[in-house]
Amino acid sequence: MKVTVVGAGNVGATCANVLAQNEVANEVVLLDIKENLAEGKALDIWESSPVNYFNTRVTGSTNDYSKSANSDVVVITSGIPRKPGMSRDDLIATNAKIVKIVTEQVIQYSPEAVIIIVSNPLDVMVYAAYLTAKKPASKIFGMAGVLDTARYRAFLATELDCSPKDIQAVLMGGHGDTMVPLPRYTTVGGIPITDLLPMSKINEIVDRTKKGGGEIVNLLGTSAWYAPGAAAAQMVEAIVKDQKRIFPVCAMLNGEYGMENIALGVPVKLGKNGIEKIIELKLNDDEKALLEGSAEHVRAVMKALDDLNLF
Ligand code: NAI
Ligand code: 2OP
Repeated sequence: MKVTVVGAGNVGATCANVLAQNEVANEVVLLDIKENLAEGKALDIWESSPVNYFNTRVTGSTNDYSKSANSDVVVITSGIPRKPGMSRDDLIATNAKIVKIVTEQVIQYSPEAVIIIVSNPLDVMVYAAYLTAKKPASKIFGMAGVLDTARYRAFLATELDCSPKDIQAVLMGGHGDTMVPLPRYTTVGGIPITDLLPMSKINEIVDRTKKGGGEIVNLLGTSAWYAPGAAAAQMVEAIVKDQKRIFPVCAMLNGEYGMENIALGVPVKLGKNGIEKIIELKLNDDEKALLEGSAEHVRAVMKALDDLNLF
């Protein structure tokens, strides 16, 4: 199995490192537009193989997409991250052009690859890549929900002083402050979270989750990478190992949840064919209203993409 990660910055290099350490693929290609960056980071990761005990071959390339040819999965992380005071949506003008040009080159050399978008603003970058690639929606989608639920689960584990491994959760909607964590579908070792914590504490944690990206930006001056890189690698693993994992993924909707022509976070089954099923939960009226509000926000950013006249 061959995986290419475009963008050898913080998120891309972390993703490549996790893929290598976990031997998710035989071959990982890291690619960046910045001269020698991908080569340098790939070499550094490969030099850790005798210590970290992995076989995955990791190589780098400066913008030579022939090196990515015939990848099974491609992760696109290229684009600028936000700085304090910026929202993810402020990145659209720069990142839409980058995602478009990168996607065109990726599909030229790996027409059959499953493509995972990471660049922000995530939901609209998935939509832009989908328009560019003209692939089935099951083969081109985005990573956000795995990260956002990871934050939610980590905060719950801290609060309950329990293992994050035992916390299961679903989260829907856009990758922004309007995301919709679902306490009704959150359990700890099978026990509903609503049996373990008062609603006031759950609401506090939900609110922190929604602003989780901004919390890191305020601490670091740029956005997160350890959790995002690991989250993208977990999605790659589900695909290359055909694990049929159930994850929240940013998918193009075609009637599911009563919506179409929009990319939004929904629970899906991920396997060798990419998205093998979108799971439709029976949301209550409050949850439906929150999801619709999140979709409205994404549609406003889609309008900004339309205004760029790239498609
Ligand atoms: P970074 O600045 O560390 O890395 C981005 C890399 O993209 C740079 O090395 C840059 O040279 C490269 N690049 C730019 N244009 C390119 C092109 N045309 N072709 C190839 N490479 C190109 O940024 P970081 O922190 O890795 O973030 C990357 C993106 O991921 C940002 O848009 C960020 O907002 C987003 N992100 C999304 C998350 C999610 O949950 N979906 C989580 C964290 C970050
Ligand atoms: C994050 O949530 C900024 O999307 C990035 O960390």
